Amino acid sequence: MALLESTNEQYRQLIESARAALQFSYSPYSHFQVGSALLCADGSIISGCNIECTTIGLTICGERCALAKAISQGERNFKAVAIVAASLAYCWPCGSCRESLAEFAPDIDVIVEDDQRELVVVKLNELLPNQFLA
Ligand code: THU
Repeated sequence: MALLESTNEQYRQLIESARAALQFSYSPYSHFQVGSALLCADGSIISGCNIECTTIGLTICGERCALAKAISQGERNFKAVAIVAASLAYCWPCGSCRESLAEFAPDIDVIVEDDQRELVVVKLNELLPNQFLA
């Protein structure tokens, strides 16, 4: 796991975009707000938030929300994804989000913050080794 200096402006901006998306989180059941942001190859940023449903299993995580927004507007090339929770440091993506992100970008950088709000960066394929590929 590599600790990145907080002077990495592009990744810092990505984390701040994820944080800005927290305000849109719809999480009345868990009260756990998640914001995420994808850095696209062209430098653009697409954010998302978790969206819950009274049928709990239909909940959409923040990362898959951002991914669906990106794919649905024609963007499939990603460099990094940032994830922030309102109430938790080190908000690593869940297994479903790891798989969904790996579908498009298995080598993507995954960025979270530690409890001092310093950036922590790992490769997605470290979080999801031996990805299932049919
Ligand atoms: N959640 C995410 O948005 N991303 C993850 O990677 C894990 C969990 C959301 C789902 C649910 O709304 C809340 O966090 C609590 O599990």
